[in-house]
Amino acid sequence: YRRLRVALLGAGAVGSQVASLLRKHGEELADRAGATLELVGIAVRDVDAKRDVELPRELFTTDAETLIVGADIVIELMGGIEPARDYLLQAINSGADVVTANKALLATHGPEIFDAADQVGAQVYYEAAAAGAIPIIRPLRDSLAGDRVQRIMGIVNGTTNYILDRMDKEGAELADVLADAQRLGYAEADPTADVGGYDAAQKAAILASLAFHTTVPLEMVHREGITGIDKATMDAARHAGYVIKLLAVCERLTDVPGASGSGEAISVRVYPALIERDHPLASVHGANNAVFVQAEAAGNLMFYGAGAGGVQTASAVLGDVVSAARRHIAGGVGVGESTRANLPIVPIGRVTTRY
Ligand code: NDP
Ligand code: HSE
Repeated sequence: YRRLRVALLGAGAVGSQVASLLRKHGEELADRAGATLELVGIAVRDVDAKRDVELPRELFTTDAETLIVGADIVIELMGGIEPARDYLLQAINSGADVVTANKALLATHGPEIFDAADQVGAQVYYEAAAAGAIPIIRPLRDSLAGDRVQRIMGIVNGTTNYILDRMDKEGAELADVLADAQRLGYAEADPTADVGGYDAAQKAAILASLAFHTTVPLEMVHREGITGIDKATMDAARHAGYVIKLLAVCERLTDVPGASGSGEAISVRVYPALIERDHPLASVHGANNAVFVQAEAAGNLMFYGAGAGGVQTASAVLGDVVSAARRHIAGGVGVGESTRANLPIVPIGRVTTRY
């Protein structure tokens, strides 16, 4: 097989598992990719930090810029905006395909990164940037490209679902279970992103952009987190026959006054909602996520599975790595992001809070 050089940026909850699986299943992945995937190095802040899995020390470096040079595939799993943005652009401009799980970066700088990739014929893969291990990016971008998505509704943050679930089942307080979510590798480096609804809003912006073939700026997403929910709120919801879930809702609206052309607009919003106990979303427990997609022709589709967690998310990342390797070997061109509709976005908050 041809040898492809893979550079990994970050070896935290997700990155360390990606490195471990890449080494463990290297031969099998080579057969699937049609190329040997050689992990040439891992850039981190501290080469001596304790890792979730054991990895050879000689793979580690603090010099990400040098590691990127000459890589065929660069996997960014550092998180945050800078220097992740800078490294991804460097990788793209040096001819690499890139794989990232960084929704914060894509929701704020997606167009810049996709444009840079288009210009040099590179590809950006980001299946892990929404709903962890659940395949949802490709279904929206590729499988449903011939349909018209009307609505996406679901739970897209594992940490808040884990917290709300334990508050509901055990009567726990938010602060007490947040530490467990962090220890289990579910939470963002700054967990305010999770409990404040920022992470879910970033994912909603990414999903809506794909589903409606437009660019949804993060500032147009209505966002509420779960920090206002305490034991008393949870108890009251339970007694009334509901469970509270942090929902992301992305909708195509019709006959919108003032919307030019088709009269269509979209609304994207994230907020805690009351869910009836027999609703399918009520049975999404732990750090799992569930995404319902309603499309004009396909009807109702449901995607369910692990929404957070290092090894689970590594599955989505490695799927992207295999895709990138196949494309690299085939000498293919980027598929680009279809963002031409430019639908107006309506700033709607809580329309319905009960489901
Ligand atoms: P962690 O915080 O656990 O790990 C981050 C890693 O990046 C660490 O190894 C850290 O190095 C390294 N790093 C951070 N900043 C720098 C820098 N400036 N230079 C070099 N290395 C750096 O993050 P996660 O693994 O949890 O998440 C990674 C990405 O995946 C994020 O974008 C996150 O949003 C996304 N994601 C996470 C999921 C999860 O369940 N955890 C699920 C889906 C997506 P060091 O170890 O030396 O500190
Ligand atoms: N912190 C995120 C979550 C990780 O809990 O959903 C997965 O994107």
